[in-house]
Amino acid sequence: MLAVKNLEVVYDDVILVLRGISIEVPEGKIVALLGANGAGKTTLLRALSGLLGVHEGDITKGEITLDGKPIHRRSPAQIVGLGIKQVLEGRRVFAEFNVEENLRVGAHTNARAAKHNMERVFALFPVLKDRRKATAGYLSGGEQQMLAMARALMSEPRYLLLDEPSLGLAPLLVQQIRDLIVEINRAGTTVLLVEQNANMALSIAERGYVMETGKIVMDKPAAELLDDEDVKEFYLGLGAEGEKSFRDVKHYKRRKRWLS
Ligand SMILES: Nc1ncnc2c1ncn2[C@@H]1O[C@H](COP(=O)(O)OP(=O)(O)OP(=O)(O)O)[C@@H](O)[C@H]1O
Ligand SMILES: [Mg+2]
Repeated sequence: MLAVKNLEVVYDDVILVLRGISIEVPEGKIVALLGANGAGKTTLLRALSGLLGVHEGDITKGEITLDGKPIHRRSPAQIVGLGIKQVLEGRRVFAEFNVEENLRVGAHTNARAAKHNMERVFALFPVLKDRRKATAGYLSGGEQQMLAMARALMSEPRYLLLDEPSLGLAPLLVQQIRDLIVEINRAGTTVLLVEQNANMALSIAERGYVMETGKIVMDKPAAELLDDEDVKEFYLGLGAEGEKSFRDVKHYKRRKRWLS
């Protein structure tokens, strides 16, 4: 299990962004992390993958453990070595490299394992197999997201951390990404899924956390969150009144209620 306990993160020595976050990602599960813009979701993922330093961020309190052992003082490379791999926000691919080359960069293993993993990944993402020689920069947004995920899978991670994989994608592609996450999980990879698309995330997750301004304000089984009036209103635009237009008006009130 990957666990975060009472984590506090500060940027530039002064900007307190995570204020005592605790979450648990049990082996084999999909866990969803929801939250509005600026809540601190990406920051939490950076902390998990050891990338805070790159952004002048620092853990000032709390701990992150993998199977009970602290890992928050490890380097990004060591954390990848432990089987924790993050797909960065905004589907970063090497634009000038082709699909195959991008995948080879993701494989931190020997050539034989890389070949085997590439076949495995192509079985999961047939679209990428068809376009294996295509320059990554010319792929569609959905294909680039798939390539970013595929590249992360090349090192056979135990834990996959996804930062808003559905962002900016058309509904049909969101469904595809959703199905892929389910398949990846079925094949044995534990997933921490950061999303603003609450519907998508909660429909496949076991458990969900809602974050607001650096704190966890809700922590429930995903099915219960999907049913929760606040979550419906805030993220799904389906208030009890069934009126989308109420959403913005109530936004602030709901926020306050969660924070109180
Ligand atoms: N390198 C940084 N230096 C200073 N402040 C930062 C830095 N990175 C993020 N922040 C601030 O930390 C807060 C949380 O940002 P973060 O990117 O973690 O949120 P998020 O939940 O991922 O938001 P989004 O949904 O927009 O991706 C924001 O107020 C942001 O401005
Ligand atoms: Mg983010």
